[in-house]
Amino acid sequence: MQIVIIGSGNVAYHMAKAFSLKKIPVLQIFGRNGEELKKISEELDIPYSNEYLENADLYIICVSDNSVESVSQLITKKDCLVAHTSGFLPKEILKGAYRKSSFYPLQTFSKSKELDYKKIPFFIETENEGDKQLLFEIASKISENVMESSHEKRKYIHLTAVFACNFVNHLFARAKEISDSQNIPFNYFLPLIDETVQKIYEIEPKAAQTGPAVRNDVRVLELHEQLLKDESLEIYKTMNHSIQKMYEL
Ligand SMILES: NC(=O)c1ccc[n+]([C@@H]2O[C@H](COP(=O)([O-])OP(=O)(O)OC[C@H]3O[C@@H](n4cnc5c(N)ncnc54)[C@H](OP(=O)(O)O)[C@@H]3O)[C@@H](O)[C@H]2O)c1
Repeated sequence: MQIVIIGSGNVAYHMAKAFSLKKIPVLQIFGRNGEELKKISEELDIPYSNEYLENADLYIICVSDNSVESVSQLITKKDCLVAHTSGFLPKEILKGAYRKSSFYPLQTFSKSKELDYKKIPFFIETENEGDKQLLFEIASKISENVMESSHEKRKYIHLTAVFACNFVNHLFARAKEISDSQNIPFNYFLPLIDETVQKIYEIEPKAAQTGPAVRNDVRVLELHEQLLKDESLEIYKTMNHSIQKMYEL
């Protein structure tokens, strides 16, 4: 099985690394960013090119959602399987005379952060049973949690991930802006952040809510608003409104 990974960003790097660790041979890592490709190639000992796309049996496209369609058109081979790694896009976004699929790893990937790949849920969608078996076989070498998912369901998995990861991380970034503005070290908050996450392993998120909004401490909410401006103030008001609606306060 000849495999090519396309892209040189966060997911391309981690997929290439996960494959390498499990000794799944990768024929080539291909993309447009020669500098990044070279770094990945040197670290993982995988040939790379930003000019010539090798002939393969399986292409895994790991580029920005906006570019998946145009990049998929670079694959002119017919008798092959092509997968994208987007949580949101349908497999039909892939434009070519090959078999289309989706290979979605539900995790947040940054090049500089190591990951335990075996815990990552993988969601797979294919056109036929043979391709499903093939992608399950590959994903199962990397992860203990491989599932099939329709596009309809995957869209909602991705949307849930945006709330559970991307928004939460944005709140960390806004929180750090506030602590930085008062020269308060952000590491004071790390035990609190750890406990917030750990708690939902044991308690439903709705039952785990604390803070002035769920207590309906109106005076505190007003005074907090006076300390904020611009986007942070808007977020503060929106979040409190959402919390109070959820608890019918
Ligand atoms: N990051 C995550 O946590 C995560 C998790 C699950 C799934 N995904 C999905 O995985 C895919 C890749 O995401 P990512 O986070 O790895 O993105 P990323 O780190 O921003 O990297 C994007 C890659 O796409 C390349 N690219 C963009 N437009 C291109 C074009 N027109 N032609 C060729 N290459 C192009 C970029 O090349 P340049 O460096 O030249 O711009 C870069 O290598 C997306 O579909 C995303 O939805 C991401």
